[in-house]
Amino acid sequence: MLLQPCTLRTYHVLALVLFVSASEDFDWMKNERTSFYYGTFPTGFSWGAGSSAYQTEGAWNVDGKGMSIWDAFAHKKGKIFSNDTGDSSCEGYYKFKDDINLMKDMKLNHYRFSISWPRILPSGLKGEHINEKGISYYDNLINMLLENKVTPVVTLYHWDLPQVLQEKYGGWQNATMINYFNDFANLCFERFGNRVKYWITFNNPWSIAVEGYETGEHAPGLKLKGTGVYKAAHHIIKAHAKVWHTYDMQWRSKQKGLVGISLTADWGEPVDITNQRDIEAAERYIQFYLGWFATPIFNGDYPQVMKEYIGRKSGQQGLGVSRLPVFLPQEKSYIKGTCDFLGLGHFTTRYVTQKNFPSGLGDSYFTDRDLAELVDPQWPDPGSEWLYSVPWGFRRLLNFVKTQYGNPMIYVTENGVSEKTPCTDLCDDWRMHYFKDYINEMLKAMKDGVNVKGYTAWSLLDNFEWDEGYSERFGLYYVDFRSKNKSRYPKASVQYYKRIISSNGFPNQREVETWKRKAVETCSSSNQLLAIDPMISHMEMVTEIVVPTVCTLCILLSAVFLMFLLRGHL
Ligand code: NOJ
Repeated sequence: MLLQPCTLRTYHVLALVLFVSASEDFDWMKNERTSFYYGTFPTGFSWGAGSSAYQTEGAWNVDGKGMSIWDAFAHKKGKIFSNDTGDSSCEGYYKFKDDINLMKDMKLNHYRFSISWPRILPSGLKGEHINEKGISYYDNLINMLLENKVTPVVTLYHWDLPQVLQEKYGGWQNATMINYFNDFANLCFERFGNRVKYWITFNNPWSIAVEGYETGEHAPGLKLKGTGVYKAAHHIIKAHAKVWHTYDMQWRSKQKGLVGISLTADWGEPVDITNQRDIEAAERYIQFYLGWFATPIFNGDYPQVMKEYIGRKSGQQGLGVSRLPVFLPQEKSYIKGTCDFLGLGHFTTRYVTQKNFPSGLGDSYFTDRDLAELVDPQWPDPGSEWLYSVPWGFRRLLNFVKTQYGNPMIYVTENGVSEKTPCTDLCDDWRMHYFKDYINEMLKAMKDGVNVKGYTAWSLLDNFEWDEGYSERFGLYYVDFRSKNKSRYPKASVQYYKRIISSNGFPNQREVETWKRKAVETCSSSNQLLAIDPMISHMEMVTEIVVPTVCTLCILLSAVFLMFLLRGHL
């Protein structure tokens, strides 16, 4: 039955009333962890997806690219799950046009990617050699994004330091990195800044320092327990500030862009909210995570609690000075305020309780905090071991940022969930739930007054998940790493995310409840396509090898036959 226009209008009004009353009825205190808030984001809110160079580009030694610490690390046996490498990964270097079409189809407003430092400066140094082919690759990528109305959000350092700088200087252990990184950033501003308006200096410096220089699980794989970790972070913070000042002094007036940093942090909730020691332990957890970088950048120095704990423990170890380096007064004022926006990456939450680690028994970043982390076994845990889905923690973290750092402008630069291989189910129920609930908590946080301007789903494609290789998949799109073509297949969450984007949030219960069913309808056909992929690859092989071989043979035989005929004729 067709609805008459007037009936339509009544429905419209009814829907509006429902929507308004749903928002007004929402009780901010009751069931605040589980209740759902229907409402939309402000006009102009930016929706995007992310990636990084080493995780997706492949082409590790092509067109003059130099080696990065991740190329070197992944090539060593025993460092990465199944000895996987990013050598070819998603072949993003060759397939970026296809990928932009995927973004276009999703109607993304922005795409976050990173520039590989050794792809444009193979030896790391601007003074030595600029690789124009590398520059062209990023030029083409940026141009095509803009042609398709997708705003590029560019990370300058997503962990792939030129290997030469690691070998010659010890990487981020050495203060010379600050100037080298600044030169590289300056080159990027010079070559791309007429088109790129959102710059992120570092991605997740916590990980660079802790996993690169403390646990050694990431490149460069060093285990400088309790010392190297703080030194690396110290140089990274200074490098960030220097690059911000360079942009501010030399480029801002012409290019009118913004420079921020992307910090990743879990939320830490006290195990017992009535226990002061747990409350303080949870506070320390976040200060050692986010505050370590955010407090110098927004407030001018390391968090007081880090200075106290690391200082005290260093003293107990018999060290004359703290293992946590000190900023000079002029450095503090130079660093303070060097952030036009805060990029925030967030995936999960921990319960935290007080736990003493007596000094001297192998001090480390982890023991310096005097705490223990716990998880609730009821929390959904679909993929990576560390990643439990706890949406309410996101709202708390966002509110923490608002109150601690003066309500800065925030772009969520990473949020998402993984599944483990061999899971090849494209009907990714758990990811749809994760996005729905985390994005809803972000909406609630914005109603609390947090200044969030955009959201970036991690990640556009399944890609190289660092030490976990290809065994954990974060993508909205499934990548068939076995196929030569690295074919991409949409998971159901692509459809789901598309609905969130086109509605700019969650318009009303009736509509949102249909989204999952509709998304699942489409993914079963993608599942079938993926299932026949090995056959397709086989057929590709047949066309690529067998057909040319047979053709060549035919041509040869005809030539021989022709010669034979001609001879007889003569
Ligand atoms: C944060 C990192 O920036 C990103 O590269 C990684 O893939 C995600 N976390 C998931 O672990």
